[in-house]
Parts: sequence; C-alpha cells; structure tokens
Amino acid sequence: MSHHPQDAIAPHGGHLINRIASPGQKQEFLDQADSLPRIQLTERSLSDLILIAIGGFSPLNGFMEQKDYEPVVTDMRMANELPWAIPITLPVTEEEADRVKEGSWVRLDDPNGRFVGVLELTQKYRYNKALEASNVYRTEDINHPGVKVVYEQGPINLAGPVWLLQRDPHPLFPNYQVDPAESRKIFRENGWKSIVAFQTRNPIHRAHEYITKCALESVDALFLHPLVGATKEDDIPADVRMRCYEILLEKYYPKDKVMLAINPAAMRYAGPREAIFHALLRKNYGCTHFIVGRDHAGVGDYYGTYDAQYIFDEFEPGELGILPMKFEHAFYCTVTQGMATTKTSPSTPEQRIHLSGTKVREMLRDGKLPPPEFSRPEVAAELARSMHK
Ligand code: ADX
Repeated sequence: MSHHPQDAIAPHGGHLINRIASPGQKQEFLDQADSLPRIQLTERSLSDLILIAIGGFSPLNGFMEQKDYEPVVTDMRMANELPWAIPITLPVTEEEADRVKEGSWVRLDDPNGRFVGVLELTQKYRYNKALEASNVYRTEDINHPGVKVVYEQGPINLAGPVWLLQRDPHPLFPNYQVDPAESRKIFRENGWKSIVAFQTRNPIHRAHEYITKCALESVDALFLHPLVGATKEDDIPADVRMRCYEILLEKYYPKDKVMLAINPAAMRYAGPREAIFHALLRKNYGCTHFIVGRDHAGVGDYYGTYDAQYIFDEFEPGELGILPMKFEHAFYCTVTQGMATTKTSPSTPEQRIHLSGTKVREMLRDGKLPPPEFSRPEVAAELARSMHK
C-alpha cells in the first residue's frame, strides 16, 4: 500500500507503511503461535502496534531501536534526521527480556492474552527513564500521568519490525475507524487539497467548535480526529465524547466539509512534544494542516499556555510538512456576544466566559448543566445524561 501522487501531502518519510499481515503471512504466524515466546502488550503498546501497522506512525515499521530512540529523546530526530517527537518503544521487565532472543520472533498478545502480532526482535536495550521524562515530558515528577507510565514500565525496550495479524473493526466505533490509506482516498475522492485535522480528548465545547470553524474557513475540509486510545482515569470516556460529536455535527456543522474519525493513539500528556507527534500522525492520515490551541495535550501546570505552539519553530519550514494552525485561548465574549480570543475581542477578563474541564465535571456531578456560552445545550444534556447512568 502506498500513497497516491495526487494526495495533498506525502506521508512522513515519503511512504505509507503497511504492516498488516497478508492472509498467507498470518497463517504462517498462526502455525508458529505455540512455539514462540510471548509478550503481553499493555493497552498503550497495543495501540502503538496498531498505529505502526496501519501507517499512522510512518516511517516507523516497528518499535524503535536505540539508534533512533536516543536522538528522538534528546533532539526530536531519528537517526536519519527525520523529525519525531515521542519515542515509540516496547518496554518490558527484566524477566520478560530474558525470555526473548535477539534475532528471533516474538509473539505479541493483547491485554486479554489474544495473539495479535509478531515482533522480529532485532535489539533489546536499557534506557534512561529520567532522561526520557525530562526531555519528552519536561519534568521528572511522577504525578505527571505520562511520566508515571515511564517510571512504572519495565527497564528494557524490545525493538524491531512488527506485523499485526489482522485489522479488526473497533469494538465501539467500527463506523468511524478510518485508517490512513482510506482517509487519503476519501480526501482525494472529495477533491480536498487542504484538510485541517483536530486532535481532542475532551468533550467538545464551544471553544473547540470556534477554533475548528475558524480553521475550516481557510481550508477545504475539517478532519475531526478525537483520540480514543488510553487516557487518564478522570478524562471523559470516549463513547460519551463520540456521542457529543455526533450530536454537535448533526446540528452545528455542514455535512459535506467535515469528517469524523477515531484516532486509536494513547494519550501521553506530553504537551509540546505531543503536539509535534499529533501533527505528524495527522500528516500520515493525509492532512495538510493541524490545529494547535492553548496548552495542547497538556495536563496540570506542567507546560506554558503556548509552549505547544512555540515548539513548531524548532523545525525548519517544510521539515514537518504539515502546517500548524495556532489559536489563542478562546472564550465567550459577553461584550460582542460571540466566541472570540484576545486577538479579536475588546473584553476585559471579567467579561469572558470560560470554564475549565475540572469545573465542568464538578458542575455535572452537582447536577448542573454548563451554560450555553460554554457548551451547546444538546451536548451539555448528553454529558449530564452520561454522568447519571
Ligand atoms: S488535548 O489534550 O487533546 O489537547 P483538548 O481536547 O481539550 O485536549 O484540546 C483539543 C485542542 O483544542 C487542542 O489543540 C487545544 O489546544 C485546543 N483547545 C482546547 N480548549 C481551547 C480553548 N479554550 N481555546 C483555544 N484552544 C483550545
């Protein structure tokens, strides 16, 4: 599977990776199923395996070897200089690492013990957790949900090319599972030359709606791409978020310029680094532009409000390919009676309506609906319903 010369943008590195086993390969792997050493994947590693297989992480065709891992951690570049911001690794315990041999095949099982893929193990290596945390997450604080995962995972990375046995429909959102080869095809068929992607992991509110529509004003189409992989405990579950999208799209967006699809990635909460990673992922899906708002992929107070925008300046124009569309903090302005940012509104801070995610969750818990200046009423009602199920 390759990309098409008429695509609006080439995949990162130039080729769309496909590591889904052919029926013949799959049978060969199944025949060896009982003889191979097994590694059980976490939910995150499973979604990494899937993203590698479907080309979402092109040019990666497997879990990173040390020669790519180290410069990615320290310099946001792979061994061949191509930008990459988040290490994609398969960390395991000492005991697990002892059971597998470099140069041999490893069976990969999902968190339920089902055989889902194989790894051609080329290397196992120790890595420096503090260095990964301080570079990728800009903190070593284990209260950071991404750093916590790093400190809790095993000390040795298994590396090498992978194969996914088969691509299963998503158990919850089969109709919204659109892989990069397919999104590219749909963009082509629609004649879209510029497509802006929107990453989100929160229920959609009016600031999201505002920035996606501002972006859409200057491109051909909007690719709404909510993340449905692993998130932290207190984030709103993906099924609720997807219902909110359906409800909002039905009434508040045009039908023929917007496409909703799921992003199977796990959330890292790495702020600026993750913004680059999120952009490259959407480049592989065929998008030419990527929305970066306030505190993109941030958590707590670890990152400055616009750090995730500044980091794009660390690359030469054209190195990333996909273009960031940057938006300031959006709110409802009571003076002009519409959504705005400080760039477009004459209001003083007291004249703005903005609620934090935490505040909204509190309101919903207390049986109150967030106001229409913050959330469309149909979305607020859906959130309230899901809270009381
Ligand atoms: S994120 O972890 O996926 O970034 P969220 O779903 O809240 O979290 O944000 C999705 C996108 O919308 C990000 O680019 C974020 O910066 C942007 N965003 C969220 N809220 C606002 C806001 N009030 N003003 C401007 N941009 C925002």
